[in-house]
Amino acid sequence: MSGGHSSYEPTSGLGRWVDSRLPLPRLVYDSFVAYPTPRNLNYAYTFGAILSIMLVAQILTGIVLAMHYASTTAGAFSSVENIMRDVNSGWLLRYMHSNGASFFFIAVYLHIFRGMYYGSYKAPREILWILGVIIYLLMMATGFMGYVLPWGQMSFWGATVITGFFSAFPVIGEPIQQWLLGGFAVDNPTLNRFFSLHYLLPFMIAGVVILHVWALHVTGQTNPTGVEVKSKTDTVPFTPYATVKDAFATVVFLLVFAYFVFYMPNYLGHPDNYIEANPLVTPAHIVPEWYYLPFYAILRAITFNIGPIDSKLGGVLAMFASIAILFLLPWLDTSKIRSAVYRPWYKLFFWLFVANAIFLGWLGAKPAEGAYVVMAQIGTAYYFLFFFPILPILGLVEKPRQVPNSITESVLAKQGSGKPEAATAAPEDRA
Ligand code: HEM
Repeated sequence: MSGGHSSYEPTSGLGRWVDSRLPLPRLVYDSFVAYPTPRNLNYAYTFGAILSIMLVAQILTGIVLAMHYASTTAGAFSSVENIMRDVNSGWLLRYMHSNGASFFFIAVYLHIFRGMYYGSYKAPREILWILGVIIYLLMMATGFMGYVLPWGQMSFWGATVITGFFSAFPVIGEPIQQWLLGGFAVDNPTLNRFFSLHYLLPFMIAGVVILHVWALHVTGQTNPTGVEVKSKTDTVPFTPYATVKDAFATVVFLLVFAYFVFYMPNYLGHPDNYIEANPLVTPAHIVPEWYYLPFYAILRAITFNIGPIDSKLGGVLAMFASIAILFLLPWLDTSKIRSAVYRPWYKLFFWLFVANAIFLGWLGAKPAEGAYVVMAQIGTAYYFLFFFPILPILGLVEKPRQVPNSITESVLAKQGSGKPEAATAAPEDRA
């Protein structure tokens, strides 16, 4: 995946034998040892590694959980209780998996925001970005189907609400909904196919991640200056510099994760999901998991008809559009300058966007009534206005700050040294 000249030299006879038949060690060496990495990467660039670890953890804990789980409406809820009480370390596996999903999303949101802040999506990294958005969509589908599996009240009613969205589409809506459910309501066929797909999708995510990292190694990483690598002094080898930094960030991240798993394992879940699904009792508030809340707020913000489109369909379209618009981001941002560090206006609108996303998340958990609806409408409006027309216009009118000529120049300027020999110094954390 390195894309460049290989410096790998096998040291043993066995190494040479393998290298001439299947050069896998060479691929790993070129991609994760000798790979030239910008010397000024900060901790915002460690979330890709954290995500990779979390994906592996989710797959491993999920596989063991699946060994004890029963995907039938009669057995699902009690099989999960059995995992919690009787399976050796079952409680730990389950809490790691359920909290792991949340932490996976925390990492992915930080990863996406980092990409938006440093303009990672701009040419030539459009495909890298698009693959990321596909991963994100797959993650959303996986998380949604996973939440249905314990067959609690929120599982059942969440699935009923979400699959109900599809019925908003004229003509094709109801057939699609029935096809997804495997019947006319959320029931045994739904649970069984959701289990099957929930098992499958993480492997598809892993496949797309391989393409994602491949694309990354073709274009190379960006860095906080947004200036591309120009000379050897701009980079350091991936190992030990990036490996150690990624490992340290992962340990810190996992410590926070462990705190949740051991001390507040149900904090991010909903208590109603400890009540077995009952199609005859609707919970007072049906709320999705926290990581879907901003989109849920957008869905419910459309309370009015738009021409021939009624409010229900309008809400569903707005919700899908809020994710689909991410695919267009590389072309909506017209600025020649990559990094927000040198774009004062973009920086302002970007932080407003982040605050607005959190605000929408908060609103998603509130009942859709009164002032909450108006606030969600304002938040939804800003969400879309940010992408269009704010981004394209900003790119044309904003006066950027002076961008350094090279990564090395920027690093040396911060170290207060103009001496070229300092260019070989170890990289430091710089935003
Ligand atoms: C399972 C999920 C994901 C994994 C394992 C993953 C993995 C990685 C890794 C290892 C890197 C390089 C290190 C870094 O920059 O952090 C990276 C970079 C990148 N990722 Fe992801 N990623 C995931 C999801 C996403 C998503 C959802 C998006 C966007 C919607 C995205 C967009 C990007 C971009 C644009 C870069 C290049 C960053 C740059 O060089 O500026 N990734 N990813």
